[in-house]
Amino acid sequence: MTKEKLKKSVGWAALKYIQSSKIIGIGTGSTITYFIEALNSIKEKIEGVISSSNYSSNQLKKLGIPIYNLNNLNGLDVYVDSADEIDAHMQMIKGGGGALTKEKIIAAAAKKFICIVDSSKQVNILGRGPLPIEVIPMARSLVARELVRLGGLPEYRHNVITENGNNILDVYNMKISNASLLETKINNIPGVVSVGIFAQRRADIVLIGTKEGIKTIV
Ligand code: 5RP
Repeated sequence: MTKEKLKKSVGWAALKYIQSSKIIGIGTGSTITYFIEALNSIKEKIEGVISSSNYSSNQLKKLGIPIYNLNNLNGLDVYVDSADEIDAHMQMIKGGGGALTKEKIIAAAAKKFICIVDSSKQVNILGRGPLPIEVIPMARSLVARELVRLGGLPEYRHNVITENGNNILDVYNMKISNASLLETKINNIPGVVSVGIFAQRRADIVLIGTKEGIKTIV
């Protein structure tokens, strides 16, 4: 089965966790596009969504799914998003699509984070690929120097301005043996808006699209 088919199967599998009359948090990316497609099939049953990016909002608007403002809610029951990497402890690296800050906010507001991935995203230790970090533009070099001190090789993601008006640094070769500790250390660098390590707010349920079917980790 192709990776695209696995993404589609896991996107549709997440429907099982969606309850009627609820507002649902929506992540960003190609896997989530399949979840949005699935959500469209039950859109009359849900109240609406909170979107993590313009990319997802555009898809949701085209389908006529109402988008709410997080500030007008007391919280959120469920957030569905994907990841660039996920380990056995349900810790993730996110931000490949550059939407990590809004994704982190919605994940923090949600009672349940359901992560949907194809099997290629599973890793033993986070850090196989780059670690995205959103930074305030004037702090880009300062943050990059601190990241080198932490053992990483930061690369400026050229021609990308986030929806919050910031830059992205993609950090290579970062040794992530204690993801939660590194999340705190990077968060504490002045100028860092968000780090793409989701360890302190990890997933609660993981659905993995595999050739053998959907694997669920709770
Ligand atoms: C966006 C993300 C995405 O969840 C992550 O990049 C996975 O994307 P895809 O579903 O396209 O593989 O964190 O910021």
